This record gives sequence, structure tokens and C-alpha cells, in this order.
Amino acid sequence: MNGLSFDPEVSRQVEAVYGTPDVVEQRRVVRAALALRAGDRVLDVGVGPGLLAAEMAAEVGPTGRICGIDVSDSMLAIASTRVEVPDGPRIELEQASVARIPYPAESFDVVVSTQVFEYIEDVSGALDEVRRVLRPAGRVVLLDTDWDSIVWRSSDDARMERVLTAFEDHLVDPHLPRTLGDVLAKSGFTLTHLQTVPILNSSYDGRTYSSGLIDIIAGFVPGHGGVSEEEAHAWADDLRALGAGYFFSLNRYLFVASAL
Ligand SMILES: C[S@@+](CC[C@H](N)C(=O)[O-])C[C@H]1O[C@@H](n2cnc3c(N)ncnc32)[C@H](O)[C@@H]1O
Repeated sequence: MNGLSFDPEVSRQVEAVYGTPDVVEQRRVVRAALALRAGDRVLDVGVGPGLLAAEMAAEVGPTGRICGIDVSDSMLAIASTRVEVPDGPRIELEQASVARIPYPAESFDVVVSTQVFEYIEDVSGALDEVRRVLRPAGRVVLLDTDWDSIVWRSSDDARMERVLTAFEDHLVDPHLPRTLGDVLAKSGFTLTHLQTVPILNSSYDGRTYSSGLIDIIAGFVPGHGGVSEEEAHAWADDLRALGAGYFFSLNRYLFVASAL
């Protein structure tokens, strides 16, 4: 596999997509599940552009702590523009992998990681690290996509399938949610909440999650699964031309588990 590289261009694209109302709403659902309280200490694994971290900082207030780790220096550069939050603690950022979290045992009340574990080779090793840095009975909140959940109208279904299959190369496990509950249980976590978080775009609009996803996919798939540059462009142009006939949906899956 030759996965998605969170380089400056892709990191900027991800930041733009995560600013759309679709992903703002997704973060609202994640924050509801997090149910943070003033003073909570939170680690955001794969902090990315820092949008969730900044929202969480406002919730935990000045007595709380928000730390973010990420392997991508481009993402950390973007997140560093959001570390000062009115009425919140200064967000602490570190370049590190979940495989080796750079904090002592029992440092956090909550660990959150959205759209990250599907990129990780060793999920159970990552959960061991999460468990180490959580206090007893601390919570982990994970959100990942099952990429088989996509329903996307196209005038060429065979091409759509080729492109989406090629895009599966962008991560380690495109179907992680269907096994994640099992892996959490085997890692000693107790699942306390599970829900789908759907994204639905029923007309083509440049300010939606899926319109940004078109750009990311069209940039990634050439050279994967036999998809050429021309085919990727034709796929993207077809979707953008659908206008009011456009239809896209997919499911994220939100897991809340306790380290009991
Ligand atoms: C799709 S982005 C999600 C960003 C952020 N969690 C959000 O939802 O806004 C995935 C992020 O995970 C990071 N990442 C990938 N593998 C990682 C690892 N092993 N440890 C820490 N971060 C990782 C990437 O660099 C990228 O910033």
C-alpha cells in the first residue's frame, strides 16, 4: 500500500473539507459523545488541523488540558495556528505517533481520535498505548469510516467502483469500524456507546464534505488500481456536472469505550 501522505497540499485540502458544515456537525456529535467537563485532560491522537482540539479547549476551560499528537509536520503547522483559545488552555502539540505516545501513564481523562485509526497498522498496539496514558476508568472516543458505506450517484457505475476501490489504497483498513468493537474488547475496553454519524449531500455544492472529497480522491487515485489521470478527471467532472441530480452519503462510526 502507498497511503495518503498528509503533505502540505493534502493537509490544506483536509483542513478545507473539515471546515464544511458537514464536518462541523460531525464534530458537534463527537463533542456530545465526549461530554467534556471543566478541568478535563484530553489527548487528541492525530490532531490534524486542530479544529476539534480548539473546540475542546473552549469546553475544558483554563483548568483543563488539551494535548495533540500527529505524525505530519504539515498538519502540525496548521494546528499550531489554533493553539490559543479564548477561555481555554493553550493547546500543547507534539510530533509523535500513537505507536509511542510521549506522555506518562495515566496523564489523561479522555483520549479522542477521529479519522485516524483507519490509517494505523497496529490498532491493538495503539489501543495499548491509549490505555496506558488514560487514568483508570478514563474514556476513549474513536470515529472512523467504513468506506463500503458510500452511496454515490454516477453516470458510470463501473468507473465509480474502480475509483473507489483505488481510493481504498489511501489507508490501512477501509473497513475498520466493523472490527473495532471486537478489538476494543480484546484490548480491555468496555464499549459504552456506538452510533453512526452519517454525511448526506443531496445536491452538488462546493461547500460540502463530498465536493472536497472529490478533489482529494482525484488527486490520489491516478496510478492506483489501474486508474489513469484522465479517468480520474472524467470521474470528477461527471460528479460535478450532476448538479441537482447529485447524491452522496457515507457513514462514520463513533465508539465510546471505558478503560475499566
Ligand atoms: C484524516 S486526518 C484526521 C485529522 C483529525 N483527527 C480530524 O478529525 O480533524 C488523519 C490524521 O491522522 C494523522 N496520523 C496518521 N497516522 C498517525 C499515527 N500513527 N499517529 C498519529 N497521527 C497519525 C495524520 O497525519 C492526519 O493528520
